[in-house]
Amino acid sequence: PQTMRTVTDSKQFLFGVAVRPSDLLDPKDSKLVQDNFNILVAENIMKLQYLRPTESFWNWSDPDKLVQFAESNKMKLRGHTFVWHNQNPPFISNLTDKEKAIQVLKETITQVLTRYKGKFYEYDVCNEIIDDNGQLRNSIWMKTIGRDYIDMAFQTARAADPSVKLILNDYNNEYAGTVKGDAFYQLVKDLVDRNIPIDGVGFQLHVMAEQPIREDALRANIKRFKDLGLSVSFTEVDVRIKLPVTPEKEAAQEKIYMDLLRIALEERVSSFVLWGYTDAYSWIPGTFAGYGSAHPFTKDKTPKPVYEKMKQLIANY
Ligand code: G3I
Repeated sequence: PQTMRTVTDSKQFLFGVAVRPSDLLDPKDSKLVQDNFNILVAENIMKLQYLRPTESFWNWSDPDKLVQFAESNKMKLRGHTFVWHNQNPPFISNLTDKEKAIQVLKETITQVLTRYKGKFYEYDVCNEIIDDNGQLRNSIWMKTIGRDYIDMAFQTARAADPSVKLILNDYNNEYAGTVKGDAFYQLVKDLVDRNIPIDGVGFQLHVMAEQPIREDALRANIKRFKDLGLSVSFTEVDVRIKLPVTPEKEAAQEKIYMDLLRIALEERVSSFVLWGYTDAYSWIPGTFAGYGSAHPFTKDKTPKPVYEKMKQLIANY
């Protein structure tokens, strides 16, 4: 039987996963990653807390291994992430001075994209910068620099590596006609109108099995970003189930994975990335108590029935 990788490569469909260092080290895990995915993103190690834990220390070792793994397996890479309100090192969380914050922001982006020039297909320059109420989030970058940090981040990234697609990524931004979805669109449109270098948007799509995909609102949203000349990526897909798992809930989960994949194929979404492949390493139970079974491989890393169907859908597309 064909592997997922063979199928997606033959369709030139970017189908990927968020990985941890152990996914590349453990021979069984790394084989699974090689056989299934053609684009990778680091689940954690490229966040500033890990990448630049102090102002003068850069932890290049893990990202270097990821870049090398992707290169030797002819995979593409997503970068995640520079500007975020979470997982920052203390020297960033404690910034107070505006000029210093600007220096740290520009230096971080420039260092990373200079070292890895030409290596990343797309990069989440900013992540989750809009709050659930539609306002710009009051992150450390907002507090110290003000809203100009967004322009600065994208401009700095473009200057450091003109070849990487620059992405604004968020969650709960996938539907047109919602407070956050519309605020996200307005922010992006304003960047485009002012010629700030942005190439695409990311919909994370951490969704729940009990909430069916609102296909019309999702397609309408994709369309309006395409109309701005931007790409759309599904960047962190998982479908959590309220435990215990039942056949009905699994069927609902399957429908959501299939809907998202079908829409991605039909709307020519730029990349479709799972936020983890196996329930064994899932971030879900730690964040959403009582939820689990969110990923397409079981705890013992065998594909669930939905995964075979996803492969067939891509193969027949
Ligand atoms: O590294 C420490 C380890 O030393 C310690 O022993 C262990 C004990 O809890 O914690 C480890 O850190 C954890 C880290 O993941 C690395 O495993 C943190 O506690 C944990 O909070 C952190 O969670 C990550 C989360 O982002 C943080 O917000 C998840 O793995 C990661 O999947 C999640 O990813 C985010 C995306 O970046 C942005 N979109 C939402 C998505 C899900 O929350």
